[in-house]
Amino acid sequence: MAGTMIYLTRRAEFSASHYYHSAALSPEENQRLYGKCNNPRGHGHNYVLEVTVRGEIDPRSGMVVDLKQLKEVMAREVLEVLDHRFLNEEVPVFHHVIPTTENLAVEVWRMLALKLQFGRLHRIRLYETPDLFVDYYGPESNGHKGRE
Ligand code: NI
Repeated sequence: MAGTMIYLTRRAEFSASHYYHSAALSPEENQRLYGKCNNPRGHGHNYVLEVTVRGEIDPRSGMVVDLKQLKEVMAREVLEVLDHRFLNEEVPVFHHVIPTTENLAVEVWRMLALKLQFGRLHRIRLYETPDLFVDYYGPESNGHKGRE
């Protein structure tokens, strides 16, 4: 129905390794803050990514997005870049950004935001473990404050 706002989520999984080290902190502070995660040899996670788009239902198709296209964009723009990578060394942005779950969610937003031909990106939810996830709703200027 026209004017009916719907939020649709697609889930995908990928595996990647990382370690945490901040150039702004001393070696001792890095060790204290990050503990085992500071080991530069890295460790792996099986991440679960949920991408939520919002839009109005197209009265012709009854759908809010082209599901096949969403799957393809996620595969090409995100999974292809991150899956089975050592994030710190193989993904250029993480040469200078610490690959925490928080930062990873922001980067996934950037990878997708301009690539979606339909609907609007609403939320990136990224699980590092089943017990820990972050949500990112995009930069404040994205209209999150005043969304429908
Ligand atoms: Ni970790």
